[in-house]
Amino acid sequence: MTTAHTYDAVIVGAGGAGLRAAIEASDRVHTAVISKLYPTRSHTGTAQGGVCAALGNVEEDYPEWHAFDTVKGGDYLVDQPAALLMCEEAVDAIYQLEHWGLPFNRTTDGRIDQRRFGGHTRNHGEAPVKRACYAADRTGHMILQTLYQQCVKRNVRFFNEFYVLDLLMDEGRVGGVVAYELASGELHVFHAPSVLFATGGFGRMFRVSSNAHTLTGDGPAVAWRRGIPLEDMEFFQFHPTGVYKMGILLSEAVRGEGGILLNAENERFMERYAPTVKDLAPRDLVSRAIYQEIKEGRGAGPHKDAVWLDVRHLPREVIEEKLPDVTEFARVYLSVEPTKELVPIQPTAHYAMGGIPTDVEGQVVTGPDETPVPGLYAAGECACVSVHGANRLGTNSLLDIVVFGRRGGKHMAEFADGSDAPELPERPEGFARDMLDGLMNRREGANAADIRSELQESMFDLAFVVRSETGLKKMQQILGGLRERYERVFVQDTGRTYNTELMEAVELGFLLDCAEATVAAALARDETRGAHYREDHPLRDDEHWLKHSLAYRGPDGSVRLEFKDVKLGPYVPMERKY
Ligand code: FUM
Repeated sequence: MTTAHTYDAVIVGAGGAGLRAAIEASDRVHTAVISKLYPTRSHTGTAQGGVCAALGNVEEDYPEWHAFDTVKGGDYLVDQPAALLMCEEAVDAIYQLEHWGLPFNRTTDGRIDQRRFGGHTRNHGEAPVKRACYAADRTGHMILQTLYQQCVKRNVRFFNEFYVLDLLMDEGRVGGVVAYELASGELHVFHAPSVLFATGGFGRMFRVSSNAHTLTGDGPAVAWRRGIPLEDMEFFQFHPTGVYKMGILLSEAVRGEGGILLNAENERFMERYAPTVKDLAPRDLVSRAIYQEIKEGRGAGPHKDAVWLDVRHLPREVIEEKLPDVTEFARVYLSVEPTKELVPIQPTAHYAMGGIPTDVEGQVVTGPDETPVPGLYAAGECACVSVHGANRLGTNSLLDIVVFGRRGGKHMAEFADGSDAPELPERPEGFARDMLDGLMNRREGANAADIRSELQESMFDLAFVVRSETGLKKMQQILGGLRERYERVFVQDTGRTYNTELMEAVELGFLLDCAEATVAAALARDETRGAHYREDHPLRDDEHWLKHSLAYRGPDGSVRLEFKDVKLGPYVPMERKY
């Protein structure tokens, strides 16, 4: 059975970007939010250290300094007009959250407190600056709660535990989405002239990741299957300080508050790699430095494959008031008392810089000439505006979701107000139904969990902090084999209600799509830039590669690549020194 719904605006995903868009859209048009989770369980809630804006509350600061850091941090692949706009609008976006009741930490005179974070500097790189606004180390949690309250106030209609399976398009125009209801096993068709994807990232394609199990690239993959390209997929950020072996995030705020990294020889090795900002260098540089220390035999721990995070010297009140969760994670997950002992950490797959290409209004655009897809929007991690370029600065993701969530929601409402959705075909759910039937009707075949483990293991090995042509070609071959097995996946649970096994099999298909696009783009980009480090091409090559990649799904499942120019601005690409 299929249930039909009609809305003006349908938002897929109830993390920060989705909720921020819903606040804006629901003020004007009939809006629905579809979410795999109960909204306040979305992954935004795990973001820890802060959301940045040049408020200048603690130290002198300006949006223009923030924009410079964003562009330099992104290794000049950032579209500069978008970054300038984000950093300008950041100030208002933060005060709006404050006025909605977000409990930021405060300075002694009652203003929003700010702290240091990697790559944020005063006056174009002179020294670290305090720019990250924060609520202890639970900033994402507080943002999510604040935005959800605003949605509840506006009576936004939520469809929780609904999985998006297909995007409906008619002659290039959006007609809605098809979703699967976990509780009943039924399909729902949402007929709408505008759809915004805010489904988050796809870090679960790697074995060690800070991402929740739900981050499987659903929005990008669903769009990709309908001919929308994915931009800059080769750029995936590894956060330097994940809980050893588990990948759970230990916020960069720890280093912002004075924590340091040590190798097995108790040396503060970041002094060698980034003499000015040291442990507060951008994440790509710190992750690579950790890799180098381990490779050269200075790794810590019994297997010499970690380094230490040291907070033993921090005052007790800093730990209690500013880093309570992170220090508790060390106790719970590692049985380490961080006030007295060193904490073993390793880089963890954290954030996708690439995703569904959009303009600054959140409109999805295709091709090198950026043709808008009428009615289709994306915001947050699943989108690529591109304000993060080749490497995102810490705390710019929470900023991205509030700035571009707001813009996307506003534009989609304007678009939907007065436009009708195109007619739907007779069986709009046909594609989704066939996909589910394929998985459910097979009684033998391949096991999804095995394929997922092999995908995560090999991606972590071959498409990690350091990459090479040989490794990426091997990964492409592995992906071919995994894809072939995926076509034969079967699901043991034949039930209709809460069939999580069925949804995990669907999510695995999305992850494979994202991995294929990532590896194809990484193989093509024979240079080093930001998070994409090619040991066989260790230099940045602006002459050939100051451009964004666009990956399209080919008819035979292959990946076709196109490229488009980076939008430049006041900042001329320079060597990145910190
Ligand atoms: O380290 C952190 O707290 C993470 C922040 C971010 O990814 O922006």
